[in-house]
Formats: sequence, structure tokens, C-alpha cells
Amino acid sequence: MELEAYVRALPKAELHLHIEGTLEPEMMFALARRNGVALPWASVEAVRAAYAFTDLQSFLDLYYAGAAVLVREQDFFELAFAYFERAHADGVVHAELFFDPQTHTARGVALETVLDGLERACVEARARWGIGSRLILCFLRHLSEEEGFATLQQALPHLSRIDGVGLDSSERGHPPAKFARLFARCRELGLHVVAHAGEEGPPAYIVDALDLLKAERIDHGVRCTEDPALVGRLVREQVPLTVCPLSNVKLCVFPDLARHNLGQLFAAGLKVTINSDDPAYFGGYVAKNYVDTARALGLGRAELRRIARNSLEASFVSAAERAPWL
Ligand code: HPA
Ligand code: ZN
Repeated sequence: MELEAYVRALPKAELHLHIEGTLEPEMMFALARRNGVALPWASVEAVRAAYAFTDLQSFLDLYYAGAAVLVREQDFFELAFAYFERAHADGVVHAELFFDPQTHTARGVALETVLDGLERACVEARARWGIGSRLILCFLRHLSEEEGFATLQQALPHLSRIDGVGLDSSERGHPPAKFARLFARCRELGLHVVAHAGEEGPPAYIVDALDLLKAERIDHGVRCTEDPALVGRLVREQVPLTVCPLSNVKLCVFPDLARHNLGQLFAAGLKVTINSDDPAYFGGYVAKNYVDTARALGLGRAELRRIARNSLEASFVSAAERAPWL
């Protein structure tokens, strides 16, 4: 069997996926027209040409500008439905979607509108393809903790629809410590906790995400290798890392896939998973991340099976719920 077909046939969970990062340029322009939103690019080709990022911030500037076309419940539904269709084709049986409410509420879009559209797509994906899903509300770390608390307040009536919280956006200069009280409150409310750390930020941010935020998974985490004691701890505690190889190359965290440290992380015994992050912007959905990484690093099928299994084990579904896929 070809590697692509093998990878697509592996049941897998996607655990690091920003739903706003699945906005393909064609949909961006269609929604801009439908909603009368002006975009800073003249065409689909022009926006694609702008996807030459030099770091995380250069991407985020474009990503937030693109997200401005998402206005109505139907927009969020169509966005997530299109993602689930691609995820299903890639063998995703379960997806835990990040969404950034503050990106939308700042433009006057109600949190409820976002949730209604996303949730309707989750229900539809379950009915059509049997894909399970969860929603993870991410706080933007470039904003204040107080603004995070205001967002949590807006989310309170909808807590039954949200499985957990995360922390994303500009990492450098915005350490986990800035959000310690907010995440403590989220944990009291029974929410799962994850956090981006060690993508561009130092290994100390990974330590603080674990110790101060009590993160159950680390999103990215690739800079852990700069601290051998931390690697030892991550192995001992089997903390899942949601690694996004194509994203890391696009954002210049690694110069190319052949120099990505995923193989090293895996060999060290870390609970590594492979994910797509913002696939519309980074050149590939989850199966392409598996295939390209395997080719670049010489990972075999046994390793890919282990990584897919890790993703299911690291998800927030119960052991009984994931048993059929393992
Ligand atoms: N890192 C931080 N914030 C983000 C990312 C990312 O990779 N994608 C979308 N928001
Ligand atoms: Zn991310």
C-alpha cells in the first residue's frame, strides 16, 4: 500500500487544530463577498502569495485579518463542516477543535454565534461520518488575563458545550504565569486544560504550563529538547505533545522537515502526536503532516501507528469511547 493510503487508513485523532486556521482562501473570498467585508488582498492568488511567513507573528497578523470574514452562524458552520470533510478523508475519527472567541467578539460577533455554528458542524460530522469532536476555547495570550476572565464570563452559560480551554497567539513575552488565576478558575469549573508552549517560547514556558496552568497536553512543545531535565519529566509523566511539523517549517521554527526534531522526541520516548495546526495556511492537513514527516525523517509504519495511537490516547474521550479505534 502506498504511504498516503496507509496513513489515511490509520484511525487518528487531531488534537491541535485551530478552526480559524482551516479558512481556505477561496472560502475567505466567498465569505468576504457574502458579508460585505473588505479584505487587504485583491485575489485568492494574492492572499496565497502572502503566505510567506518569517515567524509566528507574521502568520498571526494575516490569520486575524482573514478571520474577519467570519460573521454569521452559517459561516462558522461552513468553515467547520469543510474541515470535517477533509479530516474524514484523512482518517480522522476524532477531532478536538480550538477556537478563538476573542478574535470574533472583538468585532461584535457573539460567542453564541460562533458556538452555534461550530456545534452544528460537529453534530453533522458525527451523523455523516461518525467523527467525534470536542471544542476547546482558546484565550489569546497577547491580551490581558482580565480580558480572558471577561471571555470566560461570556462562556459560562455555554460550559456544557465546551470541553476545555487552551492558550494561543503570540508566545514570546506572554508566559503562562500571566494566566495562572484564569486557568485555576477554569479547572475549578471542570474544564480540561491545554496550552501552547515551547513553539517559539523557551522550555521554561513548558514547565510553567505544566506547573502553573496544570496543562494536560502541551501544544507544540518542540523546544523542550533544550532542557534535558524537562525531556526526562515529559517522558516520565507521558505528557502528550501536539506537534505540528508543517506549521513549524512554515513559521521557521525549523529550517526544513529533515531538520525537525520529531524523530528525536519520539525516540526519546515522548508521547508525540502529529497535527496540522492551521492547515489552510501551512500547506497541508493532518495526513500530509504524517506522510511528509515520515518521508523526511525516515519514520516507518510501526512508528506512524504508534503516533496515531498516541493521538487517540491523548484525546479527551474515555477509554471506552476510543476502544473501537485501538
Ligand atoms: N501558535 C500560536 N497561536 C496560534 C497558532 C500557533 O501555532 N495558530 C493559531 N494561533
Ligand atoms: Zn496552534
